[in-house]
Amino acid sequence: MSTATLIAPPDAAEPALLPILIAPHAALKAKARTVRSADADTVRALLPRLFATMYQAPGIGLAAPQVGVPLRLAVVDLQPDDTRAPIALINPQVVAASEELATREEGCLSLPGQYADVTRPARVKVRFEDETGARREIEADGLLAACLQHEIDHLDGVLFVDHLSALKRNMILRRLAKELRQKAK
Ligand code: NI
Repeated sequence: MSTATLIAPPDAAEPALLPILIAPHAALKAKARTVRSADADTVRALLPRLFATMYQAPGIGLAAPQVGVPLRLAVVDLQPDDTRAPIALINPQVVAASEELATREEGCLSLPGQYADVTRPARVKVRFEDETGARREIEADGLLAACLQHEIDHLDGVLFVDHLSALKRNMILRRLAKELRQKAK
């Protein structure tokens, strides 16, 4: 018996991972459309794959446009204390934002290895539908506030580098392209 036959087949219960699009991909600049009730099957199939892809990356947020699906859908999990706390955001929108701003370092799975300080409202109230279709609201500050705004930005074709000066943005995009070229060699 060869060792190959001892290797277990891929677990069918394990959601298949999705390839993450890397900037500057045109799909990352497009505005995603509202999820409607007719999209329920698509959303149900996509959510476990989005979570699995985010955890595997690893990341704390992933939006559907980042895997080439132009729907207003994102997943977030800050994994506090290394425990999972998944949040599925369907049609999320910021309905209130503090005047107070906060600056923190952000990265993005679509700009691997690139980080920069981004300034955003310190606190936000986000309204969305969860995976059961129930309307929900989160009031967030700190990392969660930044993460929610970052993911909602993706649904509007906005990347964290779009919050920076053109000079800084171009520097990061050039560095990313260079690193990817070197990696491909
Ligand atoms: Ni991102």
